[in-house]
Amino acid sequence: MAHSIRKVGIIGAGQMGNGIAHVCALAGMPVVINDIQAARLKDALATINGNMARQVARKRITEDDKLAALKLITTAETYDGLSDCDIVIEAAVEKEDIKRKIFTELCPALKPEALIATNSSSISITRLAAATDRPEKFIGIHFMNPVPVMELVEIIRGIATADVTFEASKEFISKLGKTIAVAEDFPAFMVNRILLPMVNEAIYTLYEGVGNVEGIDTAMRLGAHHPMGPLELADFIGLDTCLSVMQVLHEGLADSKYRPCPLLVKYVEAGWLGKKAGRGFYDYRGAKPVPTR
Ligand SMILES: NC(=O)c1ccc[n+]([C@@H]2O[C@H](COP(=O)([O-])OP(=O)(O)OC[C@H]3O[C@@H](n4cnc5c(N)ncnc54)[C@H](O)[C@@H]3O)[C@@H](O)[C@H]2O)c1
Repeated sequence: MAHSIRKVGIIGAGQMGNGIAHVCALAGMPVVINDIQAARLKDALATINGNMARQVARKRITEDDKLAALKLITTAETYDGLSDCDIVIEAAVEKEDIKRKIFTELCPALKPEALIATNSSSISITRLAAATDRPEKFIGIHFMNPVPVMELVEIIRGIATADVTFEASKEFISKLGKTIAVAEDFPAFMVNRILLPMVNEAIYTLYEGVGNVEGIDTAMRLGAHHPMGPLELADFIGLDTCLSVMQVLHEGLADSKYRPCPLLVKYVEAGWLGKKAGRGFYDYRGAKPVPTR
């Protein structure tokens, strides 16, 4: 019998966790958000409120839709608060050791039939599943940023993922109004396997002095009709996430063409993680973004 997903748990109240909570609540599903930092939970509710208000202003949803959705979102500081969820979607930082620790600690708090999904951008679903007590109920559900706007969700099965888990996940994503692309469990799946090497190459182009930040972004916006330049996009994704994805590609495929650009490493070491940190390839602290190189 198909497993029906009604209540959703989310681990990680960052850009992605907030977006996933937003779309689930608008689809009428109760959502519980958890984060290791209590302050992030408060920020999450304010961010979701603000993003929904923007949708109301643009007439994408009504004020009533917004109020009904916000009522469905609660927060929990411990995993016990996720005990009645039908699925828990992990959207914490892109670090395999952190994700594995989360799954090991989360499992005892869940009901036995609960599914677990990861929103990882690149890490092996099979390896993450092995850190749980239910690999057959584990799946990759990879949302795109910003979640309320982007139409696609990648689904990735691990080696042990059961058909019922796959079917329930597809039904859940359809309820959110998203289109599904099924990817095999290889490093970075489809979207990031293609997108992140392009972003990394743009950073090499900057590193080697072929162009400056503004030049590279203008070139790709006007010369290739990309809606955003690659460096602006890197800032938007988060440079820590970009670096983690390149490391997974480099290690997982053992091909030097995926070598993370040393300049990307340097920005991450500086804590210049992009838009979320106020500074990356652009400085966002003033009225308008200013290139940092
Ligand atoms: N940013 C993107 O464009 C994008 C797109 C698709 C998927 N993803 C993936 O989504 C995940 C989250 O990315 P993000 O951009 O939202 O990152 P983020 O840095 O905005 O948020 C991460 C959140 O996880 C929390 N966290 C860290 N350790 C935790 C723990 N042990 N328990 C609970 N919470 C914890 C942090 O406090 C933070 O609030 C990553 O796996 C990333 O690869 C990101």
